[in-house]
Amino acid sequence: AECLNFAMVFSVPNYACQRRTTLENHNAVLTDALSLLAENAELEDEDGRGVAFRRAAAVLKALPKPVTSLTQLRGLPCLGEHSLRVIQDVLETGSSSEAESTKQSERFKALKVLTGIFGVGPKTAAWWIRHGINTLHQLRASGHTLNRAQQAGLEHYDGVNRPVTKAEADAIGEIVETAVTSVLPGAQVTLTGGFRRGKLTGHDVDFLITHPEEGREEGLMPKVVSWLESQGFLLYQKTTRNSYLESKDGPARPASNMDRFERCFSIFKLDACGRQPALSQADEEPKPWRAVRVDLVVSPISQFAFALLGWTGSKLFERELRRWAGYEKTMSLSSHALYDNKQSRYLKATSEEEIFAHLGLEYVPPSERNA
Ligand code: GTP
Ligand code: MN
Ligand code: MN
Repeated sequence: AECLNFAMVFSVPNYACQRRTTLENHNAVLTDALSLLAENAELEDEDGRGVAFRRAAAVLKALPKPVTSLTQLRGLPCLGEHSLRVIQDVLETGSSSEAESTKQSERFKALKVLTGIFGVGPKTAAWWIRHGINTLHQLRASGHTLNRAQQAGLEHYDGVNRPVTKAEADAIGEIVETAVTSVLPGAQVTLTGGFRRGKLTGHDVDFLITHPEEGREEGLMPKVVSWLESQGFLLYQKTTRNSYLESKDGPARPASNMDRFERCFSIFKLDACGRQPALSQADEEPKPWRAVRVDLVVSPISQFAFALLGWTGSKLFERELRRWAGYEKTMSLSSHALYDNKQSRYLKATSEEEIFAHLGLEYVPPSERNA
């Protein structure tokens, strides 16, 4: 191998799904700045700008070494003018002035606090801010009507906004496993989301439920939820029915990004089990439990591989998979199916490996989908 004295020039493929992105990040200062600007764009309901910053951050996450000069980035994909300006600022001064001033801004802080309430999105938060509500205290005092999700979100604000540990995710996993096998023996529970990718903490815990016999999973969610409720494990839940078969617009092309599995957004009550419970206020009695956001999804076994791939993330990796499928392969990928628009047929798969193969991509394991 050559020994080069000058800084190395990096090369990165265009789509995040062509790259192996582990949790090891050699450019955290840069990606933190870009991620913060992405978050701000999303909070301002400007998703296009958000995606652009997310893509730029993902390219830097994929680099094998810290970036030391802009010239190393020549020819890399997804680095727009704005992102390059942010990178240059960090390389020259050690931090991004735009990210720092955004972080300090009252509007960003208010949007973040208000959208931290489960059930509150950027539009609702912006509307409240326009009406003079910037804090939880002001919201409580305002007498604004909250829906059921938002009421639960406000009540369990501290728990829902505290990162979930892997140990807590495993404890929830055991509860879900017990619930599922109690109401349908033989049903299987798989941990998805960030924890499947090897993350050590998460904002929630995600599970995919199926049964090896097609059809046996039908109507499973309400039974699981009833069981959990009867045991006192749920602080909040909202179940939505499977609408996949009822839809008219074709299975691989859902009307929105939302898929149509039977699913349940919930807040679990997790006992402290020996852990020292954190005090939210010094004079408050420590709670012997904490609130944890949990997502449950039920999939028929015939769609399991697609659901597993779709619910493992990261969000950007998923978005890039669909972009790759559409633009490079003329296919439509969803969490239900893969449709080949040229052959006008569905491509079956029983494993994630098969889906990558259909898409003409090298297989990327979950731990390397942290784009
Ligand atoms: P943390 O929870 O923050 O640790 O990260 P995460 O990667 O687990 O994120 P999240 O729980 O938000 O989502 C997990 C995966 O589920 C991601 O790949 C999302 O794209 C996917 N996901 C979330 N909501 C939906 C949805 O409505 N439909 C589909 N198909 N996928 C979704
Ligand atoms: Mn998650
Ligand atoms: Mn989730």
